[in-house]
Amino acid sequence: MIYQIYPRSFQDSGDDGVGDLRGITARLPYVASLGVGAVWLSPIFTSPMRDFGYDVADYCDIDPLFGTLDDFDALVAEAHRLGLKVMLDYVPNHTSSDHAWFRESLTGKESGKRDWYVWRDPAQDGGVPNNWKSFFGGPAWTLDEASGQYYLHQFLPSQPDLNWRNPAVRAAMFDVLRFWMRRGVDGFRVDVIWLLAEDEDFRDEPVNPDWKPGDVEHASLDHIHTQDQPETHEYIREMRRVLDEFDDRMMVGEIYLPVVKLLPYAGTAEEPMVHLPFNFHLILQGWTAELVRGFADSYDAECRLRHSWPNWVLGNHDQHRFKSRLGADQYRVAQTLLLTLRGTPTVYYGDEIGMTDVDVPADRLVDPAALQQPDSPEAGRDPERTPMQWDATANAGFAPGGATPWLPLADDYPAVNVAAQDGDPASDLNYFRALTRLRAEYPALVGGAYRSLETPGADVFAYERMPEHGGGERVVVLLNFGGEAADVAGLAGGDTLLSSLGDRPERGAALRPHEARILRG
Ligand code: GLC
Repeated sequence: MIYQIYPRSFQDSGDDGVGDLRGITARLPYVASLGVGAVWLSPIFTSPMRDFGYDVADYCDIDPLFGTLDDFDALVAEAHRLGLKVMLDYVPNHTSSDHAWFRESLTGKESGKRDWYVWRDPAQDGGVPNNWKSFFGGPAWTLDEASGQYYLHQFLPSQPDLNWRNPAVRAAMFDVLRFWMRRGVDGFRVDVIWLLAEDEDFRDEPVNPDWKPGDVEHASLDHIHTQDQPETHEYIREMRRVLDEFDDRMMVGEIYLPVVKLLPYAGTAEEPMVHLPFNFHLILQGWTAELVRGFADSYDAECRLRHSWPNWVLGNHDQHRFKSRLGADQYRVAQTLLLTLRGTPTVYYGDEIGMTDVDVPADRLVDPAALQQPDSPEAGRDPERTPMQWDATANAGFAPGGATPWLPLADDYPAVNVAAQDGDPASDLNYFRALTRLRAEYPALVGGAYRSLETPGADVFAYERMPEHGGGERVVVLLNFGGEAADVAGLAGGDTLLSSLGDRPERGAALRPHEARILRG
């Protein structure tokens, strides 16, 4: 299981209102207490922070805001001591415009680094080379007046796209992976890995007929020439060979694609690619028992066919908190689902205590996705990036020195925080821990086969997890997506191991509204 830490928001030890590495290290015993296996840190590298670290100016150093390489080594040592693996966020598609490579590229067409980025002459009318758009609104091209050429950026103009077709770029970026693996890093989450290559002929993208006003501008095109290109698959196979130069390392790829296009990113036994292509479909599709069951059945079956290991995600730093999206009633149902489906779950910091989106006032918005797209109110990501709620003291214990946190705290922090929940057996935090304990006690919940069960009510999703190679016990999971009690007496399953409502209902007892229940098989 992977636990994502957004470093700016986890723990400030330097009293500047921004989280840092020493803060994270101090909190690692808490992370270990959750029963997770690995931490993924969003970017901590040198950066002007125009996209909060996803704009890297030096891949092989730590931004002073977060600390030093020594602080990083101490973090890795402490994590390993506690039995936690460490994953970094590798951002290969683009650098910051402050990166030395881009500054050299900007010096002119003759520069040795010119071809490290994607430069094009203007179109015949003198405007942008084609119709490609940036994820954050506006064209994906910015004019460099000095040379009269445009450079490509799928995100901010200050995040120029690297030219992955250039072997020197690939070699330099692969050395970055080696640098961190030599330092003891166990793996990587790879940023926008499905965007690495673009169409060689720079053809316009067709208009998306389903786009409607209010949707982000980027969604107005169908991205057949800027995403999921065959060359990208080649580059990822190469990247994997670099990982395999070292023992026991892994990578997870950020990929927003339908399952048929997503699973090929795991590659084949002969030509492996990423270990886990992130499956974001619990976030993207509707939340009903029928839809979730339909998806889980087909995804699980597809993964088996391809001999690929599944994975599940409910939240990250780009998506609204799942407790806000799905409603407080469904919070534990969703948490139970995430931790009991077949596959590796990824958990976003704070979701284990039930943190919700924070309504960030206009004068405190900092996310460029929000600031550049005021007509698309859903685009902003500040609400899900607010500081971790540790205790009821000032600044929720996040910035104990008193500095103003970089994003406002949730109003509910005096009640919703780690300290308050730690000693309360009925808390969300201890429910999360009970789920991870069950995973440890019942290996079928981790590696066992998955099969959904026919249920009497439309709001119930039920499935069993069976030990695949003999031994161990079968487990049954019952999830009520609705507000009515459901008769589950006819379903398989024995004694209750855990109920989201905190008690141990008798065998066959009705499943209560919004209840999640786990039974011995
Ligand atoms: C990924 C990151 C997102 C970032 C973008 C550009 O989608 O998750 O936070 O803004 O890439 O690097």
